[in-house]
Amino acid sequence: MSAPESTLLQSWHDNAQAWIEAIRSGAIESRRQVTDQAILLAIMGRQPERVLDLGCGEGWLLRALAERGIEAVGVDGDATLIDAARTAGTSQVHVASYAALAEAQVDIGRDYALICANFSLLHQDIIPLMAAMNALLAPGGALVIQTLHPWAVAAGDYQDGWREETFAGIAGQWQPMPWYFRTLSSWLNALDMAGFRLTSLQEPQHPQSAVPQSLLMIAERR
Ligand SMILES: C[S@@+](CC[C@H](N)C(=O)[O-])C[C@H]1O[C@@H](n2cnc3c(N)ncnc32)[C@H](O)[C@@H]1O
Repeated sequence: MSAPESTLLQSWHDNAQAWIEAIRSGAIESRRQVTDQAILLAIMGRQPERVLDLGCGEGWLLRALAERGIEAVGVDGDATLIDAARTAGTSQVHVASYAALAEAQVDIGRDYALICANFSLLHQDIIPLMAAMNALLAPGGALVIQTLHPWAVAAGDYQDGWREETFAGIAGQWQPMPWYFRTLSSWLNALDMAGFRLTSLQEPQHPQSAVPQSLLMIAERR
């Protein structure tokens, strides 16, 4: 793991409690208004029997899928978040870093109809992880990624590179989180290099917002 990548994962250890409170109190408006619904619709649209939520955090999406009759398994690198997911009712959850998953060091099941990553691909070296996820999909399976829309967050600097999130505006004690900004073509190249074919690209947007709230990509195994 590179230095910024281990700082990134460490920031989730530091921020786990604040994140649980933020998600469970609905503190992030764009999630409440747009992006939670967008990822649920994208997943439900494929009617998958079994889903892996990569970087599941405290597990809100696992619970939302289970309520809709979909078997959902979660994996995340932070043990506090996984404990919170388990306590909230999801039994199939695993603690594993992306580095361990990329090297297939942890058994998290296989033959998934769909793997989703909701705002959880924040590091630079995503291709080995995505290729490892490709190998866990059943034939015809899909990867659904929702992420920050690069044009909405570029802030005049449209090139791949590390940035910093301070969580300003969300109540709680936060440590800054390094995250890797990726242009649209960089996302599409990464999918291609990991053996995926893009089948849908969406830009979920609130009608009263001038910019999209996220970029949502659906890709199938090639
Ligand atoms: C913004 S949160 C999203 C959580 C969840 N998907 C959601 O929608 O609420 C990013 C998640 O990615 C996980 N994550 C980030 N880097 C990781 C790494 N290197 N290995 C494992 N998990 C990681 C964090 O622990 C965190 O739960």
